Amino acid sequence: MCGIVGYCGPRPATEILLEGLKRLEYRGYDSAGICVGDGVGAITTVKCKGKIRDLREIVPSDLAGNFGIGHTRWATHGEVNDANAHPHTDCSGNLAVVHNGIIENYTVLKKKLESEGHVFRSETDSEVLAHLISSFYSGDLETAVKQVAPLVKGTFGIICVHADEPGRIVGARNGSPLVLGIGNGEMFLASDVTAMMAYTRQVVYLEDGDIVVVDSESYRTSDVKDNNIEKKIESIDWELQEIEKGGFPTFMEKEIFEQPQSIERAMQGRLDRELATAHLGGLNLSSKQLLNIERVKIVAIGTSYHAAMVASYLFETVARIPCTAELASEVRYKNPVVEKDALHFVISQSGETADTLYAMRELQRKGATVLGICNVVGSTIPRESDGGVYIHSGPEIAVASTKAFTSQLVALYEFTLLMARMRHLSFEEGMLILENLESLPGLVAQVLASSDKIQKLAAKYCQATDFLFLGRGLNYPVALEGALKLKEISYIHAEGFSAAEIKHGPIALINEATPSIFLIPDDRLREKVISNMKEVKAREGKVIAVSVTGDDEVESIADDVVFVPRAHELLYPFLMVVPLQLFAYHCARLLNRNVDQPRNLAKSVTVE
Ligand code: F6R
Repeated sequence: MCGIVGYCGPRPATEILLEGLKRLEYRGYDSAGICVGDGVGAITTVKCKGKIRDLREIVPSDLAGNFGIGHTRWATHGEVNDANAHPHTDCSGNLAVVHNGIIENYTVLKKKLESEGHVFRSETDSEVLAHLISSFYSGDLETAVKQVAPLVKGTFGIICVHADEPGRIVGARNGSPLVLGIGNGEMFLASDVTAMMAYTRQVVYLEDGDIVVVDSESYRTSDVKDNNIEKKIESIDWELQEIEKGGFPTFMEKEIFEQPQSIERAMQGRLDRELATAHLGGLNLSSKQLLNIERVKIVAIGTSYHAAMVASYLFETVARIPCTAELASEVRYKNPVVEKDALHFVISQSGETADTLYAMRELQRKGATVLGICNVVGSTIPRESDGGVYIHSGPEIAVASTKAFTSQLVALYEFTLLMARMRHLSFEEGMLILENLESLPGLVAQVLASSDKIQKLAAKYCQATDFLFLGRGLNYPVALEGALKLKEISYIHAEGFSAAEIKHGPIALINEATPSIFLIPDDRLREKVISNMKEVKAREGKVIAVSVTGDDEVESIADDVVFVPRAHELLYPFLMVVPLQLFAYHCARLLNRNVDQPRNLAKSVTVE
């Protein structure tokens, strides 16, 4: 969603802000802007709807200055146009602010400010902040921000500058991420570290209630009452090349192809061959507490929810622990019951998804222990959860989540192994799972080798307007994930179902123009899925099967087949999802879609 960047230092700010915004493009946006201060009492704001390249075209070539702020906007209040783009300024144009989040009481605030003579130029909730801070301003921006923060209801990550305070930026965080980057004689502020990674590895993650003031040499963090808050300086462990395309045409393709390595990283140091179990350091639970767990509840949204669904099958089958997966967006408002013997997980690649974060807080309020499974180090969910696991996928830049999904699964498999080994699972059975997990990177690499074949299939089918994705058991959530991937990046309508469910309704959709993608591993449900496939064929439906090398029966029935290597049946979600990621990817490319930044979507959804 919206991105924020700020700079203070000796270099020309314009270029650093534009570069930072470029790095934030992956979050999804529809307009952008910057405000640069010349250091002698003037600030200049330039903004427009469209992409960073559009902004570059209207930025005056002589826009010089050594401090400034920038923003990429993903519209919530008000249409996509130049006026609604950030930065927003007060009436004088001397104070500029960029904002991520939502100001819930902006209508009341706006009315009051208008009655006092403030003139608004946009339809956004954010503009109210510029006027409000300005109305409190009497020579010290930091004080004004501290006076305003308690009056604002909603969420915000803001940074602002004032023409009369050259070389200073003030930031505040409440619910939307803000990170401070400490350089050598220069300071950065941003909504995520990717915007500043080219310049510094030293960061401070701000927390809700923090106010920060920076100039090129120093920073100070405090609360609204002006109490100093000491913050820990942390190091970014991602490499710059990880947020670059590395020879691939898109981030999505790069991330799909990184999966053998990202899966391996999610296992590093966690599999214990001596005891045939897994160790997950960050759980913060003793063996006794783990043994007392009678049920597991997993909360997530989107792709992360599909990983949760796979785990719900896995925990019950392997660890014999009842497990449910629930949509984060629903949990928060259903007044969830927290059982004493239940362990809760939230899963989130970004660690910032509002639905998941608010669900977690609601569960914690009711006394739940909530563990996080996240990718982005230092993001809000890992900071606020009671413990958890980082999946170490490396930055996932493409909006469509791919490598994070398979790494989330690895973490969930590891937890299952740990819990099962503490209960009924024998050493030999544990070892079998462990060894199979270890073989995953190699197996996934074999699946990736089918990319060209899948591209040909995409060329054959990408003109279809509707698809069905069908799977069972552990692979039912994978079917949902395949449908989600296809619709979000190719804009082709797709639905996922349990293959068994089609005769209860969806089979009415079958005709020769609606292809079905069947997931048919050689597991105990194979025969049943083959029957479902025959039902579709009998109604003239076209079938693409994702099946196991050597399955001649499936090959003889389906119109087209993608084979994955034969494996332990628990591993098929990993092997089945990769061809679906590739299929969606190739369809989207053939249809000329913007694969990395699909329309209307944002990477980290920080509003409900
Ligand atoms: C799909 C996708 C989204 C996210 C969802 C949750 O490709 O990327 O559905 O999975 O917005 O995001 P996280 O995992 O960051 O909480």
